Amino acid sequence: MNKYRIAVIPGDGIGKEVVPEGLKVLNAIAAKFNIELSYNHFDWSCETYKKTGRMMPEDGLEQLRENDAIFLGAVGFPGVPDHLSLWGLLIPIRREFEQYINLRPVRLLPGITSPLRDKVPGDIDFWVVRENCEGEYSQIGGMIHQGTEHEAVVQESIFTRYGTDRAIRYAFELAKTTDKNHVTSATKSNGLFHSMPFWDKRFATIASEYPDSETDQYHIDILAAQFVMNPERFDVVVASNLFGDILSDLGPGVTGTIAVAPSANINPERKHPSMFEPVHGSAPDIAGLGIANPIGQIWSAAMMLEHLGEKAAGAAIMQAIEAVLTATDAPLTPDLGGRASTCDLGDAIAAQVYRL
Ligand code: NAI
Ligand code: MG
Repeated sequence: MNKYRIAVIPGDGIGKEVVPEGLKVLNAIAAKFNIELSYNHFDWSCETYKKTGRMMPEDGLEQLRENDAIFLGAVGFPGVPDHLSLWGLLIPIRREFEQYINLRPVRLLPGITSPLRDKVPGDIDFWVVRENCEGEYSQIGGMIHQGTEHEAVVQESIFTRYGTDRAIRYAFELAKTTDKNHVTSATKSNGLFHSMPFWDKRFATIASEYPDSETDQYHIDILAAQFVMNPERFDVVVASNLFGDILSDLGPGVTGTIAVAPSANINPERKHPSMFEPVHGSAPDIAGLGIANPIGQIWSAAMMLEHLGEKAAGAAIMQAIEAVLTATDAPLTPDLGGRASTCDLGDAIAAQVYRL
């Protein structure tokens, strides 16, 4: 029997509501596929911050390191500034564990209506590969003359050849596994004088290693428009940290709801644990009501199993999600137009797993 140790961090807000549904489905899958999952639970959150002044203990990363994967809900809640919660937990995990790929599928699921007229499942089906460790998200910079009318800030971006190449190369490797084998690069080399011309040069260099792959590139502004006007044309889209962050919410947006979208923070070399979390945040506006859609969390569990090498188990979760979404009496949460609770929808998907 294959055994995996999973670190579980529900985090804040609806993270605490959707993570248990993810675990419910994982337990159903484990029983069905004869996998052993053991969970190490961590209550790190904005509550922890308010009590201790830290999002996680000083040796937090050491505690996570011994796990095979990290299953995260969402982090951030009113009362703690977002940059403190993000830089206190999520970003240290991504960087220390060299999770330099943030991978997000953009796929229109059956049973969900796209805000784009006439789009049906199959029309929208691509990947966003976001560089996850450097780029525009950096602590390098500073402020002078604070509080005076001469105050000024500098915020630097960092693009290393090493960091850029490995993200772009991952995108080409991923494209090799798809039917289209097509990689699109998100750039802005007309406006950003140094970083994006460098990105373009690295993209062209890596592309030359993959003569069988088709490529194109767009400036980020028109690329955003193309996501809405022609989502069919994309296969794998590779982008820097900031551009990828934006595109990977826009993508799920055009598939109907960010609430079902998953994401994987991957260390491709498997030297460190990778982390799986929904795209959405802690949704303070609906936290505590028990109506959050758990599908983003459950789909993240499928990506986690796939990463761990349990491909059949991951595929089974997707099959169960799709079966439930297309059932005539589907217990849908309010964001999908229904009246069911988080727990009802999680129960239905877990029950479907047992039925497969
Ligand atoms: P959000 O994703 O939490 O919410 C945006 C909107 O989508 C809200 O109206 C919310 O009710 C709705 N929504 C989100 N997930 C849903 C679900 N599963 N079911 C039904 N409706 C859902 O984004 P927002 O409001 O910008 O951020 C709230 C907090 O979450 C902030 O503190 C932010 O920093 C944090 N956050 C954390 C992330 C993470 O942990 N990776 C990612 C995004 C935001
Ligand atoms: Mg985001």
